[in-house]
Amino acid sequence: MIDELKSPSAFIGVEGRDIISFGSGQPDLPPPKEVYEILPSYKAFKYGLIQGQINLREALAREYPSSAAESFVITNGASEALDLTLRVLAGIGEKGGKVLLPRPYYYSYPFSVKFAGMEPVYTDLVEGRIDFQDFDQKVRDCKAVIINSPSNPTGRVESMETLKKIEKLTNDLGVYVISDEVYKDLIYVRENYLIKGPHVVTINSFSKTYAMCGFRIGYLWSLDQELVNKVIEMKTHTSMNTNILGQEMAYQATRAPKSFIEKQLKIWKGRRDLICEGLLNLGLDLWKPEGAFYVLPKVKNPRKTVSELFRKHRVITYLGGWFGAPDRIRLSYALDREKIEEGLKRIGEYLKKS
Ligand SMILES: Cc1ncc(COP(=O)(O)O)c(C=O)c1O
Repeated sequence: MIDELKSPSAFIGVEGRDIISFGSGQPDLPPPKEVYEILPSYKAFKYGLIQGQINLREALAREYPSSAAESFVITNGASEALDLTLRVLAGIGEKGGKVLLPRPYYYSYPFSVKFAGMEPVYTDLVEGRIDFQDFDQKVRDCKAVIINSPSNPTGRVESMETLKKIEKLTNDLGVYVISDEVYKDLIYVRENYLIKGPHVVTINSFSKTYAMCGFRIGYLWSLDQELVNKVIEMKTHTSMNTNILGQEMAYQATRAPKSFIEKQLKIWKGRRDLICEGLLNLGLDLWKPEGAFYVLPKVKNPRKTVSELFRKHRVITYLGGWFGAPDRIRLSYALDREKIEEGLKRIGEYLKKS
């Protein structure tokens, strides 16, 4: 029997006809059609460049101002980019070091930081946003900080003012910023603001914007070429090149019309409105998501809620504790409107009985 309270691994990839999954954050909407069009004629099979295929890196360099193909590394999802960056940072200067994480955080961050031999330290969000005063105090003895706006699990977007203040402070202190931008194209409230600077490592992925999570294509980009070269060295002796077919598909995704992203964003926003209204009508307290596709309502007994929703109502939700939010549960709304409505109905039935 699975232990649904232990970790998200119990739920990732779980499907079933009667199951409504608000679990995993994987888009149900398909990737752009361009991604599949190459398949019938695709013939390459040899090792690729460790750093990543040049056509894809050049396409990315056109998307990021003041960048160049040589400062990108194509990775096995944003996950590998994050892991390699942290392990490289751990070896720069004094070994190890602290990494500041705004809490609630993406559940892999503390694990990745510890696997790299570093120590996670936390700054608690206030109303789902970074408290800059607390951030300012805690960042001073850190080697790096991870910023994720829009955030998984809060769905919140940091204000431009906060991001600019973080940019300046970390630059003055020489603290590295790992800017996890995997939801940068999924913002409902304003344009994205990209944190920049000599100590910034931008991480992104084709998993969310282009709905290609199973193909495992992500990347990192930094103006710190020495750091980039160290990442390439580490990748050479660990995973080697990222899947070359996936990279070609990702390259095709960059050529799809930008209207693809706009159309998807409209759908996500509609779903955001639907689920927020539904949860608020059920009396739950939540931070209104401004980007990504997650919502993190407060519930009375999160462990019982997650367990009973799954076992008795066939609804998957994630425990807030996995994200450093023990009084909440996380719902992903990466599923169609009918399923969201059915899921809300079942949550309502559970709440009525409990
Ligand atoms: C904030 C954040 N970073 C990184 C990842 C990992 O993405 P990828 O599929 O590109 O490895 C996720 C996936 O959910 C995420 O939410």
